[in-house]
Amino acid sequence: MNKVATVALLHLLLSASGSGDGSTETALTAAPGDVALLPCYTVGNVTPTLTTWMKNGREVNMSDGVSVSSPSPAGRRLSVLHDGSLNIMGVIPGDEGSYMCASTLPDNSSFQAHVLLQVTNVPDTHPDCMYVPAQDPSQVQFNCSWFGAYPPPKLRWGEDGAFQVTNTLSVTMNSSLLSDGQTMRCTAQHQLLGPGTEKSCSLTLKIPYPVGEPLATALEATSVTLTCSETTSFPPANTVWRKGLQHDSIVSGSKYVLSQEGLVFKLTILNVSQDDQGVYFCHSENQLAIRELEVYLTVKKASSAYTGAIIGVFIAALIVGSAVIVAKTLYSSRHRICLGGDFGQIEEDRGDMLSLVESDDEQLFQDAVPRLPPVTNGRHTTLVQIHRMPSSDHEDAETADTSPQQLEDTEQAEEPEDLVTF
Ligand SMILES: *[C@@H]1O[C@H](CO)[C@@H](O)[C@H](O)[C@H]1NC(C)=O
Ligand SMILES: *[C@@H]1O[C@H](CO)[C@@H](O)[C@H](O)[C@H]1NC(C)=O
Ligand SMILES: *[C@@H]1O[C@H](CO)[C@@H](O)[C@H](O)[C@H]1NC(C)=O
Ligand SMILES: *[C@@H]1O[C@H](CO)[C@@H](O)[C@H](O)[C@H]1NC(C)=O
Repeated sequence: MNKVATVALLHLLLSASGSGDGSTETALTAAPGDVALLPCYTVGNVTPTLTTWMKNGREVNMSDGVSVSSPSPAGRRLSVLHDGSLNIMGVIPGDEGSYMCASTLPDNSSFQAHVLLQVTNVPDTHPDCMYVPAQDPSQVQFNCSWFGAYPPPKLRWGEDGAFQVTNTLSVTMNSSLLSDGQTMRCTAQHQLLGPGTEKSCSLTLKIPYPVGEPLATALEATSVTLTCSETTSFPPANTVWRKGLQHDSIVSGSKYVLSQEGLVFKLTILNVSQDDQGVYFCHSENQLAIRELEVYLTVKKASSAYTGAIIGVFIAALIVGSAVIVAKTLYSSRHRICLGGDFGQIEEDRGDMLSLVESDDEQLFQDAVPRLPPVTNGRHTTLVQIHRMPSSDHEDAETADTSPQQLEDTEQAEEPEDLVTF
């Protein structure tokens, strides 16, 4: 911070335009870190008795920037000197603004001065690119703005052409020149960024792409809602619902309710009748293209619902009936059926073999009957047995005391007639 140089600079930039009757206007520019001296009464060497400073309409807080270690007035960043001027030790971004001082002179007359302070700054942010909806649909307008930079930056749309000194720059293009995937870029330059360093923003153009379910079904006399979302389009699309092969437009009313939640577009058809069956279009359009999502609505007669219900009840009765018959048959031949072992155990008992065999000895398996599951595969004359392979050890059988395997172990002399391996 070079105080002498800065004060000299400020005096150069000082462009007082005294109105002659107790009021002046001054514009100042300072860089961060500079000492800025905002003058109040500059005519003669009269010392005002009282001076107050306002910034953007509010009284300046003189304790701003006081550090805990040096709370004395000399350590303050902001102070009013005895001639009424405002001294800023070490300008920071944010000090810029419109200042006003009000002084009372010894002869009881009052005096006002306005000072516009600018702080040179280049923001950390990049410029903002945005789409501006235009009246003329054949034209597309984009704005590029970069606020907070001082002196004003230089902006340019596109890759060639001249930079313009401005905070905000707009470009208007004939939409026939736009294409899908095209990128619009705005580049910003600033003296504080140094040569070769630029900041930029860009927009990528996309044709519309409405998305939704292509088929819908409704029952007569109910209402149905068709939905369509359009999240892709840039510039943002105008998305509407249309009806029928003529693509007739649809208006909200007693029949249709059109609604929008964010980028989801809904069409609710009330009190659906057969006339409502047919094709609907989610019509999405921007300056690049028109795209449509086709939705076919099928209207089912209310009576057909009853038929369906009756068929459903009939099928259900049929299933229950057959279950009863199967259960009865199983029960009547229960003495011929035996399920050996717990199925969960089969995996553990490696070397065992599961097989279905004809049962000759009814007495032997009677104990197992109560453990039958309610439904089997219907082959009520077959029997599931676990047969131990000759190579396996007998440890498993010994630990599983209640397993019917033990029964089978005692029964190994009997050879199965029918062997099914799983
Ligand atoms: C200024 O006003 C004060 C009271 O408001 C008065 O006492 C004083 O004499 C005045 N001075 C002059 C120079 O008129
Ligand atoms: C776009 O820029 C133009 C001119 O620079 C300005 O008049 C307009 O307000 C801007 N529009 C928006 C939405 O910022
Ligand atoms: C946009 O371009 C088309 C064809 O390129 C032209 O017919 C039309 O007049 C242009 N519109 C404007 C507003 O320049
Ligand atoms: C539904 O439409 C039918 C004719 O299609 C009409 O008779 C009935 O009154 C309507 N119901 C309601 C609630 O609007």
